[in-house]
Amino acid sequence: MDTKELLKEIKELKQIKNAVIVAHNYQIDDVQAVADMVGDSLALSRYCATVDADVIVFCGVHFMAESAKILSPEKTVLLPEADAGCPMADMATAEAVREKKKQHPEAVAVCYINSSAEVKAECDICCTSSNAIDVVRSLKEKEVIFIPDMNLGSFVAKKLPEKKIIPWKGFCITHHKIKAEEVKQMKAQHPDALLLVHPECSPEIVEMADFTGSTKQIIDFANNSTNSKFIIGTEMGVLYKLKNDNPNKTFYLMSQGLICPNMKKTSLKSVLDALKEMKHEINLDEDIRTKAKKSLDRMLAIK
Ligand code: 13P
Ligand code: SF4
Repeated sequence: MDTKELLKEIKELKQIKNAVIVAHNYQIDDVQAVADMVGDSLALSRYCATVDADVIVFCGVHFMAESAKILSPEKTVLLPEADAGCPMADMATAEAVREKKKQHPEAVAVCYINSSAEVKAECDICCTSSNAIDVVRSLKEKEVIFIPDMNLGSFVAKKLPEKKIIPWKGFCITHHKIKAEEVKQMKAQHPDALLLVHPECSPEIVEMADFTGSTKQIIDFANNSTNSKFIIGTEMGVLYKLKNDNPNKTFYLMSQGLICPNMKKTSLKSVLDALKEMKHEINLDEDIRTKAKKSLDRMLAIK
């Protein structure tokens, strides 16, 4: 089946099933193009919580589709590729969180949205890369267990020195491996370009950046900047929107290794199959879901 045929069938099935397709900024170009909504984790969560549809086809990774289901249990949420997971989310378990809370009874537990429903259910509040600072600032407690990304935790700690951040040892396999040497070389090659990075990069990379933010914040920054050249320090999928929105600006990927293999699993064919066969449906234990929802709702009430 060629792209034209795939798109035609997807469009027809979407209408029949009253479905929407949402895609994260890291999805392949064709999938971003077919989606009703493309965004970062926060924007997609907000959209899924309020959209008027019976079915959400979530083109992203497992924790994202799970978050959509936590917020909208009445909708059918489908993840086109069943094994599209996030290795960082797998670096925290509910049991390990309970253990950490015992060790720090005074602390509040904050979990990055890149975590399982079980972990969210153990935590007091959730955050994304775009609101982590606002979320932690809003808490009355001084001690904060920050789960699971040590790099995002360190970014927050730097911005909020009044808080004591207790880090977790998780990291993103795609962002964490970027080396300062590669970045120095890129900066030397493009001295007039601004460096925009995701807070999942290690602190030494964030230190070198002109701007640090979520995928959406990086896109918004480049769209609004008067500068015309940018080195992009996040997964290559963001280049689709950056280039479409800014045909006269130039974007250099900070490292050729900036590819999230899990985000790249979804294709137009898997979107069509998901709609045809109603797969792979996200289902959650109701007790876990309601507890996890409290963490997400508390976050959504902030910003
Ligand atoms: P954003 O929330 O910035 O879109 O990022 C999600 C993610 O998984 C980054 O690696
Ligand atoms: Fe997870 Fe990193 Fe992929 Fe984001 S880029 S989904 S944090 S592995």
